[in-house]
Amino acid sequence: MKILVTGGSGYIGSHTSVELINAGYEVIIVDNFFNSQPEVIDRIEQITHKRPLCYEGNVCDRQVLEKIFQEHNIDAAIDFAAYKAVGESVSKPLMYYQNNLNALMTLCEVMQEHDCKNLVFSSSATVYGDPESVPISEESSLSVTNPYGATKLYGEAILQYLHIADPQWSIAILRYFNPIGAHSSGLIGENPNDIPNNLMPYICKVASGELPYLNVFGDDYPTHDGTGVRDYIHVVDLAIGHIAALKTICDTHNIDVFNLGTGTGYSVLDMVHAYETINQVKVPYRITKRRPGDIAECYADTSKAERVLHWRAERTLEEMCKDAYRFINHQV
Ligand code: UD1
Repeated sequence: MKILVTGGSGYIGSHTSVELINAGYEVIIVDNFFNSQPEVIDRIEQITHKRPLCYEGNVCDRQVLEKIFQEHNIDAAIDFAAYKAVGESVSKPLMYYQNNLNALMTLCEVMQEHDCKNLVFSSSATVYGDPESVPISEESSLSVTNPYGATKLYGEAILQYLHIADPQWSIAILRYFNPIGAHSSGLIGENPNDIPNNLMPYICKVASGELPYLNVFGDDYPTHDGTGVRDYIHVVDLAIGHIAALKTICDTHNIDVFNLGTGTGYSVLDMVHAYETINQVKVPYRITKRRPGDIAECYADTSKAERVLHWRAERTLEEMCKDAYRFINHQV
């Protein structure tokens, strides 16, 4: 099967491309390298010994997609191409709507024209807003707390209505919890150019001495140590979850939504201590005030993914911390 992976050189896209190739799929990537590097394609080849075909271009550009669908008989698409910085989305909402929603709609239009109606869509646990209770099931209420989250929620709605209009579509919507870690080869991982917003890339930069200390955003949450609790999932487990979703959903003419997480929550300080212990490094930190918009606790009810996709996350917190550290040391 030929799979089009939009944003395939990004953090989650590259790991998913590796797992797809390992599972015997033919991968075609389209990426404009807005938030990734072309060398990632070489790295994917190094890991899998197979070079994915890569088209450089923007998924919002219909001509780019037309060319790909004319040149290949694509069986399914996995759509990762999106901006993802929450803070930036608050200051540049139109840029986020323009890019994320346009990319999704253009992709769907071109797919429909070419009668390719199998799609896996990257959504996020951010669509649960401030959850009423944890663990969070797919039935929990949905809300928007920032423009990035809005693009994911609207993206889901676009797909739900598309399926109502044309039930030939087969669509899996995947709500990711907090992906961290890297491929065990150390060749691909998350490497933000700017000061990271997310916890694990920030810890990595403190451990490598690039940043002096971690700001822990609040220690007065109603959690076991007062710091925020999240469901961190190894990016390779997440990647494998996409393949499970693809296999399950393809040609079923169904649309369904799945949480991809581990079901276990760890606090910020749990993460710092695990990272220090496993990698034998110091991660100095200071407690600061809460980050606006943050929630106390967020972790998944993973039972639906286990039941329907026959998938569950297997990699431990130690592996997540070790692989993240190995990757940053590869970069030096
Ligand atoms: C963030 C996004 C979310 C996105 C997800 C992707 C925000 C508000 N939300 O979620 O939309 O889907 O990433 O993984 O950005 N923390 C610190 N110090 C730091 C960074 C983080 O203490 O320097 C804490 C946070 O307060 C939080 C935890 O670490 O308790 C995790 O933060 P982060 O990695 O940014 O993820 P989320 O906030 O869960």
